Amino acid sequence: MKTAITEMFGIEHPIIQGGMHYVGFAEMAAAVSNAGGLGIITGLTQKTPQDLANEIAKCKDMTDKPFGVNITFLPTLNPPDYPAIVKAVIDGGVKVVETAGRNPQQVLPHLKDAGIKVIHKCTSVRHSLKAQDIGCDAVSVDGFECGGHPGEDDVPNMILLPRAADELDIPFVSSGGQADGRSLVASLAMGAQGMNMGTRFIATKEAPVHENVKQAIVAASELDTRLVMRPLRNTERVLTNAGVERLLEKEKMLGDKLKFEDIIDEVAGIYPKIMMEGEMDAGAWSCGMVAGLIYDIPTCKELIDRIMAEADQIINERLAGFMKGTVSA
Ligand SMILES: Cc1cc2nc3c(=O)[nH]c(=O)nc-3n(C[C@H](O)[C@H](O)[C@H](O)COP(=O)(O)O)c2cc1C
Repeated sequence: MKTAITEMFGIEHPIIQGGMHYVGFAEMAAAVSNAGGLGIITGLTQKTPQDLANEIAKCKDMTDKPFGVNITFLPTLNPPDYPAIVKAVIDGGVKVVETAGRNPQQVLPHLKDAGIKVIHKCTSVRHSLKAQDIGCDAVSVDGFECGGHPGEDDVPNMILLPRAADELDIPFVSSGGQADGRSLVASLAMGAQGMNMGTRFIATKEAPVHENVKQAIVAASELDTRLVMRPLRNTERVLTNAGVERLLEKEKMLGDKLKFEDIIDEVAGIYPKIMMEGEMDAGAWSCGMVAGLIYDIPTCKELIDRIMAEADQIINERLAGFMKGTVSA
């Protein structure tokens, strides 16, 4: 399958692994890229720009296929050293950057001058158009279903994707709730040129996270995520656990008086505990509703090959059959 996204990024299949805190290490990105998708290292998981440079070098040793780096712009008073992060990416010879969070305008000229393709992940048509205006090459359109930060508009992909198609000139991929060949075909039908997956890639053999995390995703249904930090306008979709239920109790009790400090025990420093130690009740960690569609822990290659085979079957048999008047289940 060839789309604007496979051609833009030089990849075999139009499938991207979104940046994920404490998941997007070299092992994850290389496994996805070796399977023909676009793997992405999470820049801010690395403690220093030098650590990021080392992680990029490690990934290059593990794959000769293209991979990307995620740079997330956090709403924080003490921002990370973004210029040094960008330098590590450019010096490392990375050809694709996924930006997310705030507007990436401050780093865009440097990335573009280095010949890097930039795909900005955002949760609304408004922000997608802004990304297009400032010169991003593509957008990852992240619906309300997504694991992580769905924004505050709550528009699911069934509406958001065709709306993006109606407004955008640059190519975009669907993001949020994508899991299988059905997701890919539906995304393409709604105007996307590929799909981005987060949660689905955590439940793979190569994902460098504790086995408890993978099992928790397989065990979860589509009813098991919660939205936290809504009162702070920093909404995050997470998998429920004892820490998350405690956090939600605090949100209920404090109402609009809630401050970040009130919930710090449930949201700060949680990722290493979950992803590395497998302490599944530690607190809030991002997970999509798509957990309800995840039943197994394949290798990245098995997963991507299966998605492409399913997409082929749906397009060439099921849908083509409808067009020919053949009724099937
Ligand atoms: C555990 C986890 C951590 C994530 N961390 C980040 C991050 O640091 N930066 C970012 O831009 N997106 C992050 N995301 C969002 C993903 O890149 C992706 O957009 C999202 O998972 C898509 O929704 P899905 O989980 O339904 O596939 C994270 C998602 C998960 C599940």
